[in-house]
Amino acid sequence: MVVHSNNIRTLPSLLLASIVVGLIVSLTPCSATSSGSNSAHETFIRCLVNRSEPSHPITSALYTPNNALFSSVLDSYVRNLRFNTSTTKKPYLIITALHVTHVQAAVVCGKRHNLQMKIRSGGHDYEGVSYWAEKPFFILDMFNLRSVEVDVESETAWVQAGAQLGEVYYNIAKKSKNHGFPAGVCPTVGVGGHLSGGGYGNLMRKYGLSVDNVIDAQIVDSQGRLLDRKSMGEDLFWAIRGGGGASFGVVLAYKINLVQVPEKVTVFSVYRTLEQNATDIVYNWQHVAPFIDNDLFIRLIMDVVNVTQNNGTTLTLRANFIALYLGDSKTLISLLDEKFPQLGLKQQDCIETTWLQSVLFWTNINISTPLEVLLDRQPQSPVNFLKRKSDYVKEPIPREGLEGIFKKMIELKDTILYFNPYGGRMAEVPSTATPFPHRAGRLWKVQYQANWRTPGEGVADYYIDLTRKLHKYMTPFVSKNPREAFFNYKDLDLGINHNNGKKKSYKEGRVYGVEYFNENFNRLVQIKTKVDPQNFFRNEQSIPTLPH
Ligand SMILES: Cc1cc2nc3c(=O)[nH]c(=O)nc-3n(C[C@H](O)[C@H](O)[C@H](O)COP(=O)(O)OP(=O)(O)OC[C@H]3O[C@@H](n4cnc5c(N)ncnc54)[C@H](O)[C@@H]3O)c2cc1C
Ligand SMILES: *[C@@H]1O[C@H](CO)[C@@H](O)[C@H](O)[C@H]1NC(C)=O
Ligand SMILES: *[C@@H]1O[C@H](CO)[C@@H](O)[C@H](O)[C@H]1NC(C)=O
Ligand SMILES: *[C@@H]1O[C@H](CO)[C@@H](O)[C@H](O)[C@H]1NC(C)=O
Ligand SMILES: *[C@@H]1O[C@H](CO)[C@@H](O)[C@H](O)[C@H]1NC(C)=O
Ligand SMILES: *[C@@H]1O[C@H](CO)[C@@H](O)[C@H](O)[C@H]1NC(C)=O
Ligand SMILES: *[C@@H]1O[C@H](CO)[C@@H](O)[C@H](O)[C@H]1NC(C)=O
Repeated sequence: MVVHSNNIRTLPSLLLASIVVGLIVSLTPCSATSSGSNSAHETFIRCLVNRSEPSHPITSALYTPNNALFSSVLDSYVRNLRFNTSTTKKPYLIITALHVTHVQAAVVCGKRHNLQMKIRSGGHDYEGVSYWAEKPFFILDMFNLRSVEVDVESETAWVQAGAQLGEVYYNIAKKSKNHGFPAGVCPTVGVGGHLSGGGYGNLMRKYGLSVDNVIDAQIVDSQGRLLDRKSMGEDLFWAIRGGGGASFGVVLAYKINLVQVPEKVTVFSVYRTLEQNATDIVYNWQHVAPFIDNDLFIRLIMDVVNVTQNNGTTLTLRANFIALYLGDSKTLISLLDEKFPQLGLKQQDCIETTWLQSVLFWTNINISTPLEVLLDRQPQSPVNFLKRKSDYVKEPIPREGLEGIFKKMIELKDTILYFNPYGGRMAEVPSTATPFPHRAGRLWKVQYQANWRTPGEGVADYYIDLTRKLHKYMTPFVSKNPREAFFNYKDLDLGINHNNGKKKSYKEGRVYGVEYFNENFNRLVQIKTKVDPQNFFRNEQSIPTLPH
């Protein structure tokens, strides 16, 4: 079969043209089949080729496992090594869309054959949901569609799904020193998953989530239509601002509102161990970080480290306070002297810099590094094996509670806690304005982390279990009924949808759906039922359709 020839991608274009022509001439109607057999895949590929326009042949975007570049294309956007093992299920096809018609072809043909499609933009999904599945599947890879068009005059930008946050920030800052955008701190995260799932970063207390600043979008829906905000309607537009794009359509691009940032911002990162009164400082952080001036965001990271004392080394807890302040260091220090004296921040802890350089600082890149590093498509730090979980805290934790948590962490050794303070703008946006429900009343979000560098299932189980233990230990201190979780911090421990029958799928979907979306879950289900009744856009934690 011609389409399985060794290397479609590198065939001379003349030959390609004849493959396309040959396929079109020898067309047989695509028959409905959901089996993973080779002939079904060939029929699917024929459908794709038939669907694409001669001016934008899809053949140059197709990678089958026979292709010499298949593995490197698949690997390029794997950001969790847990899903880069020999037992990880691989796709039978990757479509690296070069044009909107390729996206439309993938949807129309995938749906016609009832195939499972995974959509990948930046590949940062914590559970690898964008690039693996239990059952046979293909990947629609969006990394080629990554333009960023900034219009300073209207203070807006169109950003395509395959763009990375670093590219967005770089292109905004190149056009204006006074503009930025509130989104994640890791520059290689993709727009497609990040924005459709909510998107938060260190401008959150001032400007809310990424999705609070999205004003238009382009998607391909389950019928293969290219829609914008007007033609998709307000319901679907609401859903793809936090409800996860992958349940509703393929996001091609978002139009975002830029936000104002000063030319000079201040950052700091200070560490305090238990021996340096960490307990006391963390206790006070709880009463300061979610309530202080919206221009200040102080993230708190806690890990376990060795300290050398007069008589050898012992383990201790270390609290890292890392901040972005939209102002100068003098004002920041007087603010903290008044509101958070326990931290003991000093002038020499502070770095005054530009907003764009603060992005480097926050991701542990030396701020003197040329800013083009933000355009790199490979992360600066090596990719790890990892597990993440999340929680929301609504009441400050008592001192004894903190002491217990720290003791537990020292016992477990290899877990990390991130506390990201809310309040400010986050508390002003109504909880139903977007699918993201965790607004007023949430003091901060907890992220549980385990990172490791050794392969092996036993090793993975060990580290994953550590995060589960700490998560369990935290139960008395976090939200209940439902216990809330952040959709962008995907955690399959919350439940998996087997997408096997409407009733069962709804029941399975409700479990994680209510934790991620709380009171917004029902509206998401209604919209899903309307726009994708056949549940083509499905994955391990997608929004189910109504059971009847
Ligand atoms: C190192 C790291 C740092 C992070 N930092 C932050 C942070 O600061 N703030 C924060 O909010 N989150 C953060 N996250 C989480 C991140 O926002 C989510 O994992 C996000 O979904 C990643 O988007 P992506 O496009 O890179 O991922 P992908 O793995 O490509 O996609 C994630 C999900 O979105 C779907 N999807 C992707 N593209 C599209 C599309 N075009 N249309 C429809 N559906 C699509 C996928 O199918 C998948 O279900 C971080 C993750 C990592 C690994
Ligand atoms: C090929 O494309 C034409 C026009 O888009 C369509 O009518 C026909 O059904 C397609 N055939 C297959 C096999 O997909
Ligand atoms: C994923 O695994 C492959 C095959 O073992 C390896 O070549 C590749 O380097 C791995 N990817 C990463 C990011 O480590
Ligand atoms: C810890 O707190 C005590 C009491 O408030 C204070 O005397 C001491 O100097 C602090 N230690 C450090 C390292 O800041
Ligand atoms: C602490 O030191 C011990 C002994 O040297 C070592 O095995 C362990 O990995 C260290 N732990 C951390 C968290 O650095
Ligand atoms: C220091 O170590 C020695 C030998 O291990 C032990 O006997 C002594 O009690 C220790 N001192 C303190 C203050 O912990
Ligand atoms: C950052 O880079 C500059 C210039 O290369 C260097 O002088 C400085 O020491 C570096 N800082 C850190 C913290 O590595």
